[in-house]
Amino acid sequence: MKNIEKIEKRQSIRDYEKKKLPDAVLKELEDSFADSERLVDDIGLKLLSMTDGADKKLDKVVGYSGNVFNAPVYFVLLSEKKPHYLENAGFVAEALILKAEELDLNTCFITVTDSDEAKLSLDIRDQGEVAAIIACGYGKKEKDLVRLDIQSPSNVTMRKREGHIAPKIAQEELVYNSKWGVEMEWDDTMQDPMMDEAFYAASLAPSFLNRQPYRYIYDGSKIYILTTKEENTSKEDEKLGLGASMYNFYAVLADYMPKAPMWQMYPENNSEDLGQPKNYEVSAVITI
Ligand SMILES: Cc1cc2nc3c(=O)[nH]c(=O)nc-3n(C[C@H](O)[C@H](O)[C@H](O)COP(=O)(O)O)c2cc1C
Repeated sequence: MKNIEKIEKRQSIRDYEKKKLPDAVLKELEDSFADSERLVDDIGLKLLSMTDGADKKLDKVVGYSGNVFNAPVYFVLLSEKKPHYLENAGFVAEALILKAEELDLNTCFITVTDSDEAKLSLDIRDQGEVAAIIACGYGKKEKDLVRLDIQSPSNVTMRKREGHIAPKIAQEELVYNSKWGVEMEWDDTMQDPMMDEAFYAASLAPSFLNRQPYRYIYDGSKIYILTTKEENTSKEDEKLGLGASMYNFYAVLADYMPKAPMWQMYPENNSEDLGQPKNYEVSAVITI
């Protein structure tokens, strides 16, 4: 299955069947995590698969308004705390999420505000920071699903799902041509279909409260991702979401190229001038 197909199919699912994941399926996910590409190589990262009652333990500890949706498994990414460990965790978490899609499973990122509290609730004694938690299981059929209604982080309600899929920023607004604010022509004859698909994939990534606090700039050979501080999104969730969007972009390149180039992170507070407003900074670049 091509990455773009998994990316298009994915949506956050917030209601799961009671059915457990067969051991072989869990192992396939864990193996794929072990083999998956890292954004930053030298950051220790470990996956713990928490089953059998983890939902009860995590309830009211993590997640929007303390909701964790009774999933049969929660993947906990424990990371060494080094520069860009959250972007790295978001990147690898999205790879795991797409593997789950391939196996006909569903997922939802679960926000973590206090790593120590999350570790305590799950009795995790390993070193490392809880960088991300992903709920995973067999999602309930569409008609039974609940939809997320986001007013603000403290006012999130669940409704029966009526429509479909969280709306995403249009490609015209997500990607600028060489400089901030310059619109890209997405005419078929003007653009490489790989790039078109990669930006589309980047736009479909999960993001905290669906805020998508990032934009892309493409100058023909380099692609920059720029981030802003969104008032409702914590720095941690912003970086995880950034990593997830960067993974989707990379995963489409990997569909087309045997050896896709990897993103290079900019050192913190070391942006460059692409004409962006003061509240945006360049976070990473990839060279095609
Ligand atoms: C870092 C991060 C944390 C998130 N935390 C939660 C959460 O705690 N609860 C939840 O229901 N969804 C959570 N989400 C999922 C987003 O709300 C979801 O991605 C967004 O609404 C867009 O919907 P989609 O994933 O279906 O495209 C999180 C997403 C990210 C990237």
